[in-house]
Amino acid sequence: MSATIDPWLDKVYGARDADEVETHYDRWAVEYERDLMAAGYRYPPVAAALVARHLATDAVILDGGCGTGLVGEALAAVGYRDVIGLDLSEGMLDVARAKQCYRRLIHGALGETIEGVKPESLDACVSFGVLTPGHAPPEAFLGMLAAVKPGGLLIFSVSRLAWEEGGFQALADDLEAAGRWAPIEASEPIYAMPYSETEGHLTARLYVYRKAG
Ligand SMILES: C[S@@+](CC[C@H](N)C(=O)[O-])C[C@H]1O[C@@H](n2cnc3c(N)ncnc32)[C@H](O)[C@@H]1O
Repeated sequence: MSATIDPWLDKVYGARDADEVETHYDRWAVEYERDLMAAGYRYPPVAAALVARHLATDAVILDGGCGTGLVGEALAAVGYRDVIGLDLSEGMLDVARAKQCYRRLIHGALGETIEGVKPESLDACVSFGVLTPGHAPPEAFLGMLAAVKPGGLLIFSVSRLAWEEGGFQALADDLEAAGRWAPIEASEPIYAMPYSETEGHLTARLYVYRKAG
């Protein structure tokens, strides 16, 4: 069992606003990867597999809530060179910056609008471990949709709990009914942090949606 990740998860999931979540991640940044690896963090390889299945390596991709760059590193390892990282925490961005796996890094929030990203300019917007309580709300789907080109992709993770009870499924279904996007596929349920004492039992899926053309 992982001993060190759980107190941090309590803090970041319990954050009351963006300033608080930013402060927690700034403080956690240097130890974040060690703690996530000890918890058996599963998103980066599954994320890279889904991106590689659906996007050419010259795709322009925004990694929303890129953190220290675990997903950016995985994407760079399989040839993606045009990935932009966005995160609320400068501390997390500093760690990502040192890896040189992002073309550009932006300090900002994944929300209804995304500052620093031209509307309809991206081939895809991806986000892992971010659409969750205390972080980005379901309305972040709207910002992600606005940032990608017509026909572009949104690839993201959401835990089962947040999907069903946090309003993510409800908004995803509304957007589908309104013809704004269409589901392409979802991964099998995975245990995202199997060695976390508090989160180890929680499953999540990675979802792929295509913006209407
Ligand atoms: C659990 S970490 C995931 C980081 C990375 N995607 C990964 O897989 O390792 C969540 C990240 O989202 C960032 N974050 C939280 N809320 C955010 C928001 N509304 N907009 C952008 N980033 C946010 C945090 O600063 C943190 O770096």
